[in-house]
Amino acid sequence: MRRLPTTAIMDDATVVVIGSGGREHALCLALSKSPRVGSVHCIPGNAGTEMIAHNHHLTDTSNEGIVAFASSIDASLVVVGPEAPLCDGLADLCSQSGLPCFGPVAALAHLEGSKLHAKQTMKLAGVPTADFVELLPSSDVEAALDAYATSPWVIKRDVLAGGKGVVVTTDRDEARRFIASSIATDGMVLLEEFLPGEEASMLVVMDGQSFVTLPASQDHKRAYDGDEGPNTGGMGAYCPAPVVTSSVHEKIIERIVAPMHAHLSGQTTPYRGVLFVGLMIDEHDDPYVVEFNVRFGDPECQVTLPLIASDVFELLHGAATDTLSPSSVHFSTSSALTVVLASEGYPAAPIKGRTIDGIQSGTGGQEPSHSWINFAGVGHGDNGEMISTGGRVLSCTAMAETLEDARLSAYQLLTQIKMNGGHFRTDIGFRAFSGELGK
Ligand code: AMP
Ligand code: GLY
Repeated sequence: MRRLPTTAIMDDATVVVIGSGGREHALCLALSKSPRVGSVHCIPGNAGTEMIAHNHHLTDTSNEGIVAFASSIDASLVVVGPEAPLCDGLADLCSQSGLPCFGPVAALAHLEGSKLHAKQTMKLAGVPTADFVELLPSSDVEAALDAYATSPWVIKRDVLAGGKGVVVTTDRDEARRFIASSIATDGMVLLEEFLPGEEASMLVVMDGQSFVTLPASQDHKRAYDGDEGPNTGGMGAYCPAPVVTSSVHEKIIERIVAPMHAHLSGQTTPYRGVLFVGLMIDEHDDPYVVEFNVRFGDPECQVTLPLIASDVFELLHGAATDTLSPSSVHFSTSSALTVVLASEGYPAAPIKGRTIDGIQSGTGGQEPSHSWINFAGVGHGDNGEMISTGGRVLSCTAMAETLEDARLSAYQLLTQIKMNGGHFRTDIGFRAFSGELGK
């Protein structure tokens, strides 16, 4: 029988979180602190989520299997961490089963699934972004490269590529090769104008009626200090990011968030979830969209959720049920910073299975503390010891009145953890500390 999503917020709510990374650990931590939440279940979760939630390794890991499980425990809310299940229609299936889902339906998740669709949507909504051309097998690639030759070439595959679908290069041969290989596999590729400036991430929780912008953060995507080395999923983040001043914030709302919300809330099913707006802020403090994601950023989530002073379950449940109440969402005035510990060989070929020493009990659990661990690729070895199971293993997060204090605490926690070959950036937050803005 079809049930309508519940709009009344119940105490003792059962929440299901989908995913297994640091982001999902952060979601479980925030949700488990809500007095309205009775139990948190994570599919499949990791060694951190198991301290505060029930991990489930389903036999049927398809979206159908997830919905069957969530229905069987009478879930009040399904929170989807990664984009792939959303692009595959998990929110659509939840809706058919009457399960409130935090995360958009597939037609809207396509904003992340297809860069071309995102570009076309921005054009429709009048949102500022880089100019682009679509390159097809019949296109004159050399002429297109000439047309965009005044700054690095930005080439984007139009597929979900797990962070590996974008090349930014001044090397014409590399540009040619990436264009040719992308057209060969995908049939087309985008060549985009290079946007100079400083990046920031803004997470916007929205439903059909309203939206709430969470404090802006900044991720560090390159593997090594000084923004050197290969692109990664993110080596650390901090929040709030001083580059987003109040005047930049106003421009982002007026030029990007409000028009996108108007567009998305006018769709057959409105957007119910979080829209991740990847921004470039130029030298005139004008914001441009680099990308949209249809989920929380990882590791942005780890530094943003702790700054929400009001109830996170109410926020997510409100968005999932079209009852979002922006005036009841409050933020702490503190700052948060997280540093990722990655496996040897990450991102190219991470070596897994290494023992992780030095994790104190409690640092990943529920106790309120000014620093804690967000577990990501952490599992258990044969003797119950903690071992690495992924490229990004964990991140040390801290919250303090100043960003500098958060930075000190996060690094202090990290120095206690030992993992053979593990590497981390030593300069997380450097942009905030390099000028007056960080003071
Ligand atoms: P994306 O997957 O679209 O976020 O791109 C990955 C990274 O490439 C971004 O975080 C930026 O650092 C860079 N990038 C993407 N598009 C542009 C652009 N138009 N101009 C400058 N850098 C870009
Ligand atoms: N940290 C960037 C992302 O989650 O896409």
